[in-house]
Amino acid sequence: MGNMNDINYLRISLIDRCNFRCQYCMPEGSDLEYALQQNLLTHAELLRLIQEVFIPVGFSRFRLTGGEPLLRPGVVDLVRAIAALPETQDLALTTNAFLLADMAQDLYDAGLRRINISLDSLQPEVFDQIIGHRGKSRWQQVWQGIQAAHRVGFNPLKLNVVVIPGVNDGEVLDLAALSLEREWHIRFIEFMPIGNDDLFQHRGWIDSETLRAQIRDRWGLTAGQVRGNGPADVFQIPGALGTLGFISQMSECFCDRCNRMRLSADGWLRPCLLNETGQIDLKAQLRSGVPLYELRQQVRELIQLKPEINYKDRDSGTAGRYARTMSQIGG
Ligand code: GTP
Ligand code: 5AD
Ligand code: SF4
Repeated sequence: MGNMNDINYLRISLIDRCNFRCQYCMPEGSDLEYALQQNLLTHAELLRLIQEVFIPVGFSRFRLTGGEPLLRPGVVDLVRAIAALPETQDLALTTNAFLLADMAQDLYDAGLRRINISLDSLQPEVFDQIIGHRGKSRWQQVWQGIQAAHRVGFNPLKLNVVVIPGVNDGEVLDLAALSLEREWHIRFIEFMPIGNDDLFQHRGWIDSETLRAQIRDRWGLTAGQVRGNGPADVFQIPGALGTLGFISQMSECFCDRCNRMRLSADGWLRPCLLNETGQIDLKAQLRSGVPLYELRQQVRELIQLKPEINYKDRDSGTAGRYARTMSQIGG
C-alpha cells in the first residue's frame, strides 16, 4: 500500500537525560538506563544523517527533543548547522525551559524560530510535584525561560500541558487564559500510558472534548490556526491573541495522518511512537561503514512500511504495558 501522508517530519532526540523527573514521563527508577556518551550520535554523525539520508528521502521539518535537549552540549551549534541547510523548511525545539532564560537569545540568533515548552501548572507547589522536585521551587525559573522566549521573538510559542485528573485539571481555564492577551498557544495533551503504569492506573485521563466544553462554557470557542506539524486540533477563544490546541491521542486515533518518524539519541530510527517494528540502527551501520545509499534505501522502505506499522491497537491495552518512557523516545 502506498503512503497516505508525506512522511517529512523528523523528531530528533539529542539526549535521553533530563533535569526534571516528570512523573508521567520519567517515573522513579526509569532514569537508571541512560545511553552511554559514546553511544550518542555525534554532531558530525547527526548532520551527516540529516544531509545525506533524511533530506534526500524527503524530510524537511525537524524538531529537536530529549530528554531535555538543552542539556546536550553544543545544542546551539547544532541548531545553527541544521537551520543553515537550504532544505530545512522548519526547525523547532521542545524543552522544559529550565535552562532557556540564558539560552533563548543564542538559540534565536542561531536560527531557531519556534519553541514548544512544557508548562503543566501555574502553581509552584503543583508544578514541583509534577516534575518530581523537592527544595526551592523551579517554577519561577521556568516562567522566566518562557518570558525570555517571548521577548526574544520565538513565534509561534507553544505551551504544552499534560492534563492529569486530580493534579492539574482544575487549572485548565487558568492555563487557557494565557492565550487571551499574549500570542501564546496553549496545548492540552491527553495523558498517555507510556512507561508510567502506576500513575496512569491511579489517575486515569481526561478527554479533550470535556476540556473544550469547560472552555466553551466560559468564553466560547471557535476554530483557530497556528503553524505546526503535530497532531493538535486548533481552536481559539473569540478575540484571544493566541490559540488553544488539543492533542487527543487517547480519544481519537490520529495514526492515519501521522507524518513523522523519530531518531533516538543513540541513533535508532523509529517509525512510530508506540510501535518499534522495523526500527533501524543507523548509528551502528554508519559506524561500520555501510554506504549512505543503502541507509537511504532502508529509510525509504521504512517509510513505505509505516502505514502498516502505525500503532492502531490501542484497545488491546498494549500501550499500558509499554516499557520505554517518553523521555527515552523523545515525546
Ligand atoms: P508542532 O509542530 O508545533 O505541532 O509540534 P508537535 O505537537 O509535533 O510537538 P511537541 O513536541 O510539542 O509534541 C506534543 C505532544 O504531542 C508530545 O509530547 C506527545 O504527547 C504528542 N505526540 C507527538 N507526536 C505524537 C505521535 O506520533 N503519537 C502520539 N500518540 N502522540 C504524539
Ligand atoms: N502523556 C502525554 N504526553 C506526554 N509527554 C511526556 N509524557 C507524556 C505522557 N505520558 C509530553 C509532554 C512534554 C513532551 C516532551 O512530552 O507534554 O511536553
Ligand atoms: Fe523531562 Fe520533558 Fe520528560 Fe518532563 S516531560 S521528564 S521535562 S523529558
